[in-house]
Amino acid sequence: MSERKMITAALPYANGPVHIGHLAGVYVPSDVYARFQRRLGRDVAFICGSDEHGIPITIRAKKEGVTPQDIVDKYHEIIKKSFSDLGISFDEYSRTTSKKHHENSQDFFTALYHKGKFTEELSDQYFDEQAGEFLADRYIVGTCPNCGNENAYGDQCEKCGSTLSPSELINPKSMLSGNVPVLKETKNWYLPLNDYENFLNEWIIDGHKDDWKPNVYGQVKSWLNDGLKPRAMTRDLNWGVPVPLPEADGKVLYVWFDAPIGYISFTQEWAEKNGKNWKDYWQNENSDLIHFIGKDNIVFHCIIFPAMMKAHGNYVMPKNVPAFEFLNLENDKISTSRNWAVWAHEYVEEFPGQQDVLRYALLSSAPETKDNNFTWKDFQTKNNSELVGIFGNFINRVAVLIHKYYNGVVPEGDANAAELQEIENSAKEIETFLENFEFRNALSALMNLARFGNQYLQTEEPWKTIKEDPEKTAQSLFVSAQIAVALGQLCEPFMPFTSEKLLKMFNVEKKNWNDISGVVIESGHQIDEATLLFSKIEDDVIEAQIQKLENTKQSNKKTNPNANPMKEEITYDDFSKMDLRTATILEAEKVEKADKLLKFKVDTGIDVRTVVSGIAESFTPEECVGKQVMILANLAPRKIRGIESQGMLLLTTKPDGKLTFMTPEVKIENGVEVN
Ligand code: MF3
Ligand code: ZN
Repeated sequence: MSERKMITAALPYANGPVHIGHLAGVYVPSDVYARFQRRLGRDVAFICGSDEHGIPITIRAKKEGVTPQDIVDKYHEIIKKSFSDLGISFDEYSRTTSKKHHENSQDFFTALYHKGKFTEELSDQYFDEQAGEFLADRYIVGTCPNCGNENAYGDQCEKCGSTLSPSELINPKSMLSGNVPVLKETKNWYLPLNDYENFLNEWIIDGHKDDWKPNVYGQVKSWLNDGLKPRAMTRDLNWGVPVPLPEADGKVLYVWFDAPIGYISFTQEWAEKNGKNWKDYWQNENSDLIHFIGKDNIVFHCIIFPAMMKAHGNYVMPKNVPAFEFLNLENDKISTSRNWAVWAHEYVEEFPGQQDVLRYALLSSAPETKDNNFTWKDFQTKNNSELVGIFGNFINRVAVLIHKYYNGVVPEGDANAAELQEIENSAKEIETFLENFEFRNALSALMNLARFGNQYLQTEEPWKTIKEDPEKTAQSLFVSAQIAVALGQLCEPFMPFTSEKLLKMFNVEKKNWNDISGVVIESGHQIDEATLLFSKIEDDVIEAQIQKLENTKQSNKKTNPNANPMKEEITYDDFSKMDLRTATILEAEKVEKADKLLKFKVDTGIDVRTVVSGIAESFTPEECVGKQVMILANLAPRKIRGIESQGMLLLTTKPDGKLTFMTPEVKIENGVEVN
């Protein structure tokens, strides 16, 4: 086993905050592992950052009506803070929009390009002629051929769950302009994954049958059995890392090409700041590369990224890829879009000082081998019965009794007492489990030591023996102090905040893992006042959380399942800035060489002005004249096809897809405000 550990945690998309599913399946276990490796004295780099490219980002931006950059700036900060609040001890948490990463991923691409590792292929992609952009599958909507849902996406129908390709959609429309997209030929650069099949078979199928998790191994095997195909490493999109070739104007690197290179870029950023050499971690056989990921990322970390690194040469292959299954919440799939989640940043606010309770609860139900479930009731039980009732109770009793009988000084005792063997056994047991990525078992082993301590106190009854046999009391509290401090040492990877408090209470320093055995606190050592490590969580607190989810459930019951989610909240002031009023269309005509546009002369009551509107597919000019409409009068004028449009007419969409004006029920004077 190598003394150097290059540990990565999947880069979260910066399109929303992180929730307990992310934490349980990637970030808490990887943090436990990294902390544990550091305690063994190993040379650890624990690296992560925000994944800021890709369609999830641009979709979110469109939904919130802001730019992709706004989105990633906002969520990068929220995510980064949540991790730090929860004690996730990344050595580096960066982002894929960093300059270093753009350069590094471009260099990686260029290296593969010059080695002739790519094939160039022409393909037909959907293109929005009005927007002048190629469309990602997600940006094409139409009718699902399977269930008739009119709002199916080009890659998937969310109503019936079927996987689609844009060409299968009936009446495909671009989400950018509403127009029918056309097929247009485009060139992209492909990595022929099929060329790497032998290498992958030898390395994983022959080499890691016994040490990789069955879920990971099984998925890779089935991919390889099905045979690999060339995969495009560049895309016709405008958000991402530009492809570093003159002929690739307007193309970006595939997000799954650039994101994993982020691990390397961020290691470089960290190394530069800390006087390290990044190659020691990535290009040295003495480094164990370990990727912590969720199960939906297996193919990218076990096939595509390894093939990229192999094509490049020099890089070490991952030693292991511990992938987790999914965590459900109250028996329902966690979903960002349905807001069915416990959000890390909200937890931190609503449970101040209780980060370790969440870490503990998530680790004890970590979805290691199958999907698992989080419930608030369980969370409460784990806190009240296990952390308060067992762990905290033991520590508190020991500290209180040592103060009561010995003024807080650890009494004399036999350093060879048989019970002390339990400490070393626990340390070894936890070590074996953690080296095997068995986090739940490791946590149980820790709790078993606390249970052992409680039982020991219960049988020794130092509060009784203090009268007739004070030496026995001294011995049992000496032993108890050893167990208490050992727990403080051993719990650090799992519950770092608790460990710090506990070790401070006993006035001892954090030790190397291998030194946690036998006597861990000397007789005569003065300890501090007993403080409570955990506190009971009352029913009303849990009820409030359950109610919050119940509210989410209610608000998810939309009468119109196709309605877009509500936009971000605005203030009354925001609203009152809009000058909405009644107006009448006086004249209407087509705009030359623009099929969609109509030009209007509108009486707003305060003036007569020109407005251009993209509604020619729904109305003839004649139909419009004389109509009373609503206008947003103080919208900044803009030039459309050379004509200055002074305001915006308000319309909505009818079931047949045609537009209709927002006309008042009765005739009203022009210029009357709408509010
Ligand atoms: N952002 C991806 C996800 O959330 C994970 C990227 S991991 C990386 O599924 F390797 F690509 F960085
Ligand atoms: Zn469908």
